[in-house]
Amino acid sequence: MTDLKNKAAAASGAQADGPEPLLKVSGLVKHFPITKGVLKRKVGAVQAVDGLSFDVRPGETLGVVGESGCGKSTMGRLVTRLLEPTGGTIEFQGKDITHLSAGRLRPMRRDIQMIFQDPYGSLNPRHTVGGIIGTPFRLQGVTPDGGVKKEVQRLLELVGLSPEHYNRYPHEFSGGQRQRIGIARALALKPKLVVADEPVSALDVSIQAQVVNLLDDLQDELGLTYMIIAHDLSVIRHVSDRIAVMYLGKIVELADRTSLYEAPMHPYTKALMSAVPVPDPRRRGVKSDRILLKGDVPSPISPPTGCRFHTRCWKATQVCKSTEPPLIQLKTGHQVACHHPENAEDQAPGDAPLVTDSITVASVASTEPDRPGESAEPVVETAKGATEPVVETAKDATEPVAETAKGATEAPKAEGTPETEAAPETEGTPETEEAPKAETAPEAEAAPKAAGAGGGAAGDAEDKTPE
Ligand SMILES: Nc1ncnc2c1ncn2[C@@H]1O[C@H](COP(=O)(O)OP(=O)(O)OP(=O)(O)O)[C@@H](O)[C@H]1O
Ligand code: SF4
Ligand SMILES: [Mg+2]
Repeated sequence: MTDLKNKAAAASGAQADGPEPLLKVSGLVKHFPITKGVLKRKVGAVQAVDGLSFDVRPGETLGVVGESGCGKSTMGRLVTRLLEPTGGTIEFQGKDITHLSAGRLRPMRRDIQMIFQDPYGSLNPRHTVGGIIGTPFRLQGVTPDGGVKKEVQRLLELVGLSPEHYNRYPHEFSGGQRQRIGIARALALKPKLVVADEPVSALDVSIQAQVVNLLDDLQDELGLTYMIIAHDLSVIRHVSDRIAVMYLGKIVELADRTSLYEAPMHPYTKALMSAVPVPDPRRRGVKSDRILLKGDVPSPISPPTGCRFHTRCWKATQVCKSTEPPLIQLKTGHQVACHHPENAEDQAPGDAPLVTDSITVASVASTEPDRPGESAEPVVETAKGATEPVVETAKDATEPVAETAKGATEAPKAEGTPETEAAPETEGTPETEEAPKAETAPEAEAAPKAAGAGGGAAGDAEDKTPE
């Protein structure tokens, strides 16, 4: 293991090369305590984020991807300091902001902004668009040149809306338009870092590309640095320079886009990639191996020992169960946490395969045809403890395979975080830190359905303004 630790140290050293990072995160931890009884005795913890180390360089887009419940949003809320970290450090422009008090965070909030998933719940329905986008100026006591109204109207234009929308209310806009309002609000104070948590997943597929392109354009125009969180690998591929793949509170792979998509090293990444539809029509119909992960993501309350992925990994050996693989650099700019990586040298050769009854490694989840009229390939069942990937050899699909992106065994949330208009200004103490209770946050997970169902009262075709 000493060898591995040396490699980990070398990797973190290599990370420091290149431009000075805008954001540097080291060993970041967030455990939500689970309490019991009136005395709120702590009986456990949801290990939502458990030791993340990465940096974000000026001007780049770091994509963050992983299955539901793996800690992506928690990570986003930690780096924007809407949540208080349990451990680790967050440095922004070289300054340690990990435990800054609300008052001392205030100036920093101009520089780090967040865009939320739900363009419905994140805008206060009682405020006009002008009031919403103008809020950051009031909270920060900033008066832009020419006044707040003029600046808000400029921002509306910047995000492709009309300055005449100033006096309208959120319900008068479609989902895509509301997300543009959220983007305008996030950009009001000219931030340096924008953390976007699933910025398009609540939107109708037909308008997702427009919002993604808007984010792209704004990055070029304003020199923004992005952290974009998404479970959709196609979106991540489109927007990211580098990509962090998360599994159960950990980063399991971190690499530049080309390296990750052309030669993924972590078996989990490989499985995620294999489920991505191939957009090239010439390649449709070409057979490809698709790995469908079986079972849910284990509970973050008691994650598996060693490598957290070992209960679902077809390559697992004894060492995977006993020893956590550190995130190490195996190629320039490509870090992975795996004892038996793909496309790289085996880190624990000769180790005996892990054969246990509790293992439910990858298998085929569906026998349904991918498309009407397309026949499904035979189902391949898994032998327990297999050392080869269990794959479905199937024709490339044109729609995403949902199996790997859903079904997390989520610990119930004690979600008190008010992801409302004021959320970015709530100074890092909104979460209850309590045992899981019903989710009350307005950032409702039901939003995607609402969006898909027509995009609000005004409907997506309400006027000719871009979505
Ligand atoms: N306030 C909270 N209290 C208790 N547990 C929480 C809280 N917030 C999140 N969790 C738990 O932490 C884990 C990670 O949640 P998180 O929302 O960060 O995942 P995610 O990767 O963003 O998932 P999704 O893709 O579904 O948005 C989940 O098990 C979740 O239930
Ligand atoms: S081979 Fe082992 S270390 Fe690598 S992902 Fe599978 S279980 Fe984890
Ligand atoms: Mg999330």
